[in-house]
Amino acid sequence: MNQYILAFDQGTTSSRAIVFNQAGEAVSIAQKEFTQHFPQPGWVEHDAEEIWSTQLGVATEAVLKAGLSTQDIAGIGITNQRETTVVWDRVTLRPIAHAIVWQDRRTAAFCDQLKKDGHAEYIQKTTGLIPDAYFSATKVKWLLDNIEGAREKAEKGELCFGTIDSWLLYKLTNGKVHATDVTNASRTMLFNIHTLQWDKQLLELFAIPESMLPEVRSSSEIYGYTDHILTAANIPICGIAGDQQAALFGQMCTQPGMVKNTYGTGCFMLMNTGDQPIFSKNNLLTTIAWKIGDDTQYALEGSVFIAGAVVQWLRDGLGVIRSSAEVETLAASVENNGGVYFVPSFAGLGAPYWNQHAKGTMMGITRGTTAGHIARASIESIAFQTMDVLNAMNADAGIEISEIRVDGGATVNDLLMQFQSDMLNCKVVRPKITETTAAGAAFLAGLAIGFWKDLSEVQQYWKEQKSFEPNLDDTTRQRNIAKWNTAIKAAEVWAEI
Ligand code: G3P
Repeated sequence: MNQYILAFDQGTTSSRAIVFNQAGEAVSIAQKEFTQHFPQPGWVEHDAEEIWSTQLGVATEAVLKAGLSTQDIAGIGITNQRETTVVWDRVTLRPIAHAIVWQDRRTAAFCDQLKKDGHAEYIQKTTGLIPDAYFSATKVKWLLDNIEGAREKAEKGELCFGTIDSWLLYKLTNGKVHATDVTNASRTMLFNIHTLQWDKQLLELFAIPESMLPEVRSSSEIYGYTDHILTAANIPICGIAGDQQAALFGQMCTQPGMVKNTYGTGCFMLMNTGDQPIFSKNNLLTTIAWKIGDDTQYALEGSVFIAGAVVQWLRDGLGVIRSSAEVETLAASVENNGGVYFVPSFAGLGAPYWNQHAKGTMMGITRGTTAGHIARASIESIAFQTMDVLNAMNADAGIEISEIRVDGGATVNDLLMQFQSDMLNCKVVRPKITETTAAGAAFLAGLAIGFWKDLSEVQQYWKEQKSFEPNLDDTTRQRNIAKWNTAIKAAEVWAEI
């Protein structure tokens, strides 16, 4: 009994639950996609109630699939899509509106204005972030300004704001605990990453009442206990980290200079920078990697908004594949991209460009272009965007990064991993556990309750499965890069029209 850790991995397109045993192995997984709402161009919403019900459903399913009961679960770790903003009623636990998703661009004009008004410098030095609609602050403001009665209620202390971790924790504890961890807080654009406190000046700038905010805690401690949820009461919830930080931890990038890249809906590259925040000169973000005990670790991050989502678009938007897995076969059906370059900036461009208004741009189409070429260009776009981020990271770090650890759904795609290594001109390492995000949350939870003794114990669970070495001549590589750069420019020019 009590021999397993249950990880909640609440992502942008699906809710997942994974049961880990003492040896750090995933013994069962359950997953459910949920509805994406696109009420207007550039808007992306989730129903927080659906997030909760799917998350609870997969948790139960994963426990049953492993042949266990909730009595066997020693603790729960939560990891989540970050920045997505939920505002709910403190008493009824009902969201006041759909959650505004990190990809949502409705506050882009307001962010432009913030920059024009000279707030960028303060925001960057305080929060480590670049003013952008991506982060939670302007989303909370939008909800308070646009949902009838919200501002009055918030001012009376009747509403709670939280990122998804905070929402799930509130529901799991039946309204007893309104908290978040430092990694999620560091994505709100309201949090001082030096003092580890909400920043009063920013709260004023965004007109957000402090009473709405969750208490900020470390990433590995007991936050509360399940309360009449998952049939057994009193399972400790004892690890929380935003999904990219959890992946950095799950990849055991625990030393400064170690880098991971996660291929999910978007692509997120993080480099551990140790116990000091490093500020980027190349448009990367400074963020909190985790806090365990009194030790806070920082990271540099490059966020690419559309990666796996481009495959979803091939499936749901264009209809050229029936399942995401088919993309590898379709892309491999042609010898190369046939000259097609595709910048899938459906939600603007993230790092290192930060163009809020960029739209998807495809170049080089001829009469001979097939769905295969478009699939190939789509896959390649993931690798090119990652390359741009790695170049920025190299420049910030002042060293050539020689190895990155990769995880996430798309890493099963050998074609993509090889192309990635070719374009980065560095080694790409895929670990045995590809569920590194969930593993990171499980490790943080297990460490808080003595399920695992210390970091060195969990470190041994990380093992390499396969690595990819660069295998492309420099001339071809440079030619590919030149074409990609031209396509990026076109996307930016188009955004100005
Ligand atoms: O910042 C957004 C990120 O946390 C979303 O992750 O895995 O749902 O694409 P994912």
